[in-house]
Amino acid sequence: MATQVARLAAMHSSRTMSRTMSRTVRAVAAQGTLLASQWPPHQSSVLRPVSTSSALANADDAAAADKRTFEIVRLVQKDKPKVLEFLRKFFYHDEPLNTAIGLRPDVRCPTLEEFSLSTFDEGISVGAVAGDGSLVGVCINATLTREEDEENRRECEEGADDVPEDVKALEDPDAKFAQIKRMLSHATAQGDVFGHGPPGLDRLFDIFILSVDSSWRGKGIATKLLDESREIAQADGHRLIRIVCSSFVSALIASRMGYRCIAKLDYKTVLDRKGQRIFPTEPPHDAVTTYVLDI
Ligand SMILES: CC(C)(COP(=O)(O)OP(=O)(O)OC[C@H]1O[C@@H](n2cnc3c(N)ncnc32)[C@H](O)[C@@H]1OP(=O)(O)O)[C@@H](O)C(=O)NCCC(=O)NCCS
Repeated sequence: MATQVARLAAMHSSRTMSRTMSRTVRAVAAQGTLLASQWPPHQSSVLRPVSTSSALANADDAAAADKRTFEIVRLVQKDKPKVLEFLRKFFYHDEPLNTAIGLRPDVRCPTLEEFSLSTFDEGISVGAVAGDGSLVGVCINATLTREEDEENRRECEEGADDVPEDVKALEDPDAKFAQIKRMLSHATAQGDVFGHGPPGLDRLFDIFILSVDSSWRGKGIATKLLDESREIAQADGHRLIRIVCSSFVSALIASRMGYRCIAKLDYKTVLDRKGQRIFPTEPPHDAVTTYVLDI
């Protein structure tokens, strides 16, 4: 919670805001292929997604091809409502932990919504936009300082006994989400992430939320969002990227991209005081894993 509070405070810092506003949209074209990768971006140099329309016989084919294209863009402040709408449609109920605690598309969880967008205004998040202009993927990023990480560690120790009596008795979505936050704090504290960076590291680039439209999965969108995030991290002088993977798939992608696993917490070991699993996740989502990438 304190980490979140610190993040919310950072979100309002004028330095962060001006940095956010000075960023312009960056785009790469796709169809499974990264076509350009220049930094820094400039609004006027935004690339359009590749179209295969020249090879197509009719308008229906052209429309179908257009749907398959996507571009990666830097998300700016005005995109926030669209991102929230997107997360409500997908992430808030199909991320494995959210699914495990029973969040459904019709259930609102205000603390989850606030938490997931708490770093958005740092201006370092990216999205995937389809040919028709719809958002089909988001990667919300954050800067994590050593102080925030230490605060998280302290909070974690203090709240070590904060286990529900009976997880099934938790009705309120916010109360359920509090268990996710508690477990994630515990999992990340386990990793001692700053101990895995270069000496003197005092901040890192954190991949905070990763989500792709369910009808666009398996097309490399998450991989491209992570590629782009790495470039932003590099341009901002970061030396280490962290991703906490609650999903088997994000962990698979991270390991394929050269990230190394520094911590793993099996969901079956997270129990309430009655010995019941707090997160009965669907296989293959068996653990939360923390991965880091040196850059
Ligand atoms: C995780 C997620 C963002 C991945 O997005 P994506 O755009 O489909 O990812 P990519 O296409 O870049 O890569 C997915 C890879 O995982 C593979 N994959 C997907 N589900 C899999 C499964 N159950 N078992 C094995 N491999 C699987 C895909 O086949 C693909 O590999 P390939 O390139 O060899 O075909 C997306 O699944 C998602 O939004 N999930 C729900 C939210 C979530 O869990 N977010 C992560 C929380 S940390």
